Parts: sequence; structure tokens; C-alpha cells
Amino acid sequence: MSTLAERGMAAGWNIQLVMVDGVVEAEDFADKFETMKSRPLREDDIFLATYPKSGTHWAWEILNMIVAGKAEYAKHWQNSAWLEYRTEEELEEVTSPRILHTHLLPRQMPELLWQLECKVVYVERNAKDCAVSSFCQVSQQVWEGGSPQQSTFTGSWDDFLSVYQDGCAPLGSIFDHVNEWKNVSDVYDGFEVCSVKYEDMKQDCATEIKRMAEYLDRHLPEEKYQEIAEACSFKNLKHASEKIKDQTFHVAWQEGSSGYFRKGQAGDWKNWFTVAQSEEFDQKYELKCRESAIKVPLC
Ligand code: A3P
Repeated sequence: MSTLAERGMAAGWNIQLVMVDGVVEAEDFADKFETMKSRPLREDDIFLATYPKSGTHWAWEILNMIVAGKAEYAKHWQNSAWLEYRTEEELEEVTSPRILHTHLLPRQMPELLWQLECKVVYVERNAKDCAVSSFCQVSQQVWEGGSPQQSTFTGSWDDFLSVYQDGCAPLGSIFDHVNEWKNVSDVYDGFEVCSVKYEDMKQDCATEIKRMAEYLDRHLPEEKYQEIAEACSFKNLKHASEKIKDQTFHVAWQEGSSGYFRKGQAGDWKNWFTVAQSEEFDQKYELKCRESAIKVPLC
């Protein structure tokens, strides 16, 4: 029987995938897990946890602005502070308070997170929109320096979706990700995570920014929430990221590859899923939610 990683590659994932503690991971990242649990953290570290394509860039910029107390873009792209991408030594260089983003599951996080009770903001997005956004990225993305036309995923949308919903993609199942982060306060004795929805940010970003600021104990004058929301609108943040920010930590893609800022809309999945695909996806999600209601200690 093939592993989830093997199924993913057979469907069209064009990178080497391996299983790490039951989760599909890109082989290039696998060694990071050996030391992740013992990573040193600082008491004032702030974490942004997301499943890929949930609006990580957007929320990371907002958190930086909240901490800075003003609507000023962070100098670098978010990859400068990506927990599992950068080394311990590299992250040591980041000034406090660090806003570290991660796609890891709670059980993969550094142990000190729970002991120091660091602040964690979790952003969730409609899983179907994440699937579409992810497919658009990986099926068009050609790394700079890679062979021309060698996109990260070479199969069709149908191929992609069938393995995505079964967790045969790098970073595992979106359903497990959302459920495990939702269960954190039960498993880690009342640990408080600030949960934010992408769709709520789309509807009233200033209110969600205020909620995040209050959770972080960084209350700002009311007008600042509006200013931050405006600076981080899809159009403004796309422009700032592509034209103003230092590009050192922007993962470089070949000309013509899709970028991180595609449509920035809620509900684009309706243009992609057939009725049958949508129903199957819902059923799988529901099953996972039922399974996760039986809470198992995460470490
Ligand atoms: P789409 O591909 O649906 O457009 P991540 O940062 O986690 O990789 O998520 C990327 C998704 O968030 C993309 O979704 C991107 O367009 C969207 N996004 C980025 N900035 C945004 C913003 N300011 N407002 C709304 N959506 C945004």
C-alpha cells in the first residue's frame, strides 16, 4: 500500500514528499523537524499559525503593524520570520518581539511555546478556497533556477483536489490542521489562541485587527485599526509587497509564475468545484471533525 506522500507524488506533486510523524512533508524540510521541539523561544514571541493559503501574508503584515503601533509595512517579506524555514541562528537575529509564522501543527511546535504561553493567532480560511488558491499557486509556480515549465504540481485540478482532501500534500491535511489548532485549549489546559477567520477580515478588517490587538494587549487608538486595514487591503499590500518591500526573503519565482497575491476573494471555490466535488469535500471534512471531537493528547 502506498503512503500518503507517495499518493501525492503519483497525482502530480513534483517535489519529493516524505512522511514525518504521519504527516506529509516536503523532503527539503524534513530535517527541520528533528530539532523543532527543542527550539529556543522568547517569552514575547508572537506566533501566526495558518494552513497554507489562508491569508498568512495578510495577517503577518497586520500583526507587524499592530506591534509597531502604526500602518507601516515591515521591511521584509514574511519568510524572514518563518519558523520552519529559517534556522535557529537566523531567527536569533530577528528583533523582539518576533512575529513568527508557521504552518506546523500544534504537536510539531517547540515545547517552550506551551510553557512560556506565547501568544498565538490562528487564521482559518474556507478550506475550499484554500484548495483553489493552493492549486493556482503550485500548478503555475516555477522556482527561479528550476527548469522551465517544471511547476510544483503537474496534474489537473481533479488530481490535485482528490489528494489534497486526503492530506496527501505538503503539511498534511487542512482538516487536521484546523481541528488540531481548534482543540489546543482542551489539550494544553486552557491555552488561549486568538482565532480569526479570513472571511471576517474580508468583511470588516478593522474590527478583526482590533480583536487581535486586544488579545496581544496592544490597544491602539481607534483610527489606527482603520489605517492598518487600509494599508493591508489586497491592492495596497500587493503593491507594497511587490514594489516597496525589500525582496531578500521573497521566494523567487520565474517570470510568469503566479504570485502570492492572486484574487484575494472569498468564495472563488464556486468557480472550481463541481457539485459532486463539493459534496465529497464536505463529507470528508465532517468525518474529520467528528474524529477530532474524540480528543487525543497532541504530544
Ligand atoms: P487567492 O489565491 O485566493 O487570491 P497565504 O498568504 O497564506 O499564502 O495566502 C494567499 C492568499 O491570500 C491568496 O488568495 C491571496 O490573494 C490572499 N491575500 C493576500 N493578501 C490579501 C489581502 N490583503 N486581502 C485579501 N486576500 C489576500
